[in-house]
Amino acid sequence: MEFSIKAGAPEKLKTDCIAVGVFASVKLSASARALDTACKSRISGILKQGDFDAKPGSTLMLYDLSGIASKRVLLIGLGTEGAATAKELRDAVRGGMRAIQDANLNEVALYLADIPVKDRNEQWIIMQAAMVALETAYRFDRLKSKSRDERKKLKRVMFGLMRESKSANSALERGIAIGEGVNFARELGNLPPNICTPSYLAEQARALGRTHKLKVTVLERVNMMKLGMGSLLSVSDGSRQPPKLITMEYHGGPKKQKPVVLVGKGVTFDTGGISLKPGAEMDEMKYDMSGAGSVLGTMSAVAAMKLPLNVVGVIPATENMPDGNATRPGDVVTSMSGQTIEILNTDAEGRLILCDALTYSERFDPAAVIDIATLTGACVIALGHVASGLFANDNELAEEVSAAGVMAWDRVWRMPVWDDYQEQLKSNFADMANIGGRPAGSVTAACFLARFTKKFKWVHLDIAGTAWKSGREKGSTGRPVPLLTQFLMTRAGW
Ligand code: BES
Ligand code: MN
Ligand code: ZN
Repeated sequence: MEFSIKAGAPEKLKTDCIAVGVFASVKLSASARALDTACKSRISGILKQGDFDAKPGSTLMLYDLSGIASKRVLLIGLGTEGAATAKELRDAVRGGMRAIQDANLNEVALYLADIPVKDRNEQWIIMQAAMVALETAYRFDRLKSKSRDERKKLKRVMFGLMRESKSANSALERGIAIGEGVNFARELGNLPPNICTPSYLAEQARALGRTHKLKVTVLERVNMMKLGMGSLLSVSDGSRQPPKLITMEYHGGPKKQKPVVLVGKGVTFDTGGISLKPGAEMDEMKYDMSGAGSVLGTMSAVAAMKLPLNVVGVIPATENMPDGNATRPGDVVTSMSGQTIEILNTDAEGRLILCDALTYSERFDPAAVIDIATLTGACVIALGHVASGLFANDNELAEEVSAAGVMAWDRVWRMPVWDDYQEQLKSNFADMANIGGRPAGSVTAACFLARFTKKFKWVHLDIAGTAWKSGREKGSTGRPVPLLTQFLMTRAGW
């Protein structure tokens, strides 16, 4: 898909389709008004007749309007208010992109930047529209012997502007970078676990490093043994796939600037280990590397947009499998921090690999550490598929990440990491147990991690409910790449 920016009068642009935003109350965006004037009020006439309810996401295709050079005009509904909310704008653009793709068009000009959106500017609209365009065009079809989708692929997307704007170009570049980062994360998530192994993730990181000149290092089992990562390694013991600890360093900021470190859970398949999961929907545990995918996607976005900030990605990658060498419930292991852990349930493996990766992150002298993990089913029960769970040991950082989530519309909801919950992790045989029982399962998981993050400002994002969709629409969402990228952009002063 090719993107460009076109400044000029919409009625004069010769293209397959021009898309503009309209409100039900016959309030038109500036470009819709220009088209309406050119075609002698046909558009406002249709709205007055009540033929189009203009709900966000709904569309109406019009053909051969006199006075307009484009063959088609697509009206995109924006609701009734006269100003769209961030969510309405996104729904509207998604609906518009779907209609355009269903119509089998080659190219489209989106005149969306002039839509009034509450608390957002023109750059935000262009960024979101580019992201949504890339996200709706994404298909996972590389493993189908014949592409089932007969539709033509949309080739060119132009962003129409009523007048020249200097910042539109950089907004577009950023939107493309994020959209491609999101799709990269989705592709990794959707790949089957026999392809997307820890080694495959390491290879992807290396490839990213070659494209964007990142420093990439991959630690093997022997290196991890030397570092004393007994907790991480205990998860890989039952697997034939070798574990990898992947780090990617992006230096966009001044040399002395402390980096933001992103740590992503990379369990490429989670059977539960000896504490085996039930069979139903176990295939979805291929998505248990979505935290890792979001780190790779974010690193790719940040590098592509040349963000002036230092960012490090750390990915502990492993499978969680049962075999004769697998860790048993009751085993006690020693983490890199020196703290000992009684493994009472081998299915609580995410925290076991993250704790060593978090300790390892200390060496980067981080300004802040954010870990991203499909950590607990309990988080899905608490927050469903709308918000990711946020846990933090620093209020300011928690606010910063939450605000980025609202801005990017990739929202989180904060949960407590109070000491009162730590009691649930008591063990008779080691410094701590790896599970805290049924009550507040996502909180005790965060409390476990908190024991390894005392030396830096830290946020933990539990994305168990938001990283993928189940059912007929089964597929990775690429969340929280938009949130993470927005957070880093704001940090960089963008
Ligand atoms: N990867 C799972 C969490 C998960 C489960 C995410 C279902 C999304 C959907 C994690 O490794 C896990 O198995 N967690 C256990 C922890 C429990 C044993 C304390 C869980 O949530 O059941
Ligand atoms: Mn598990
Ligand atoms: Zn897991």
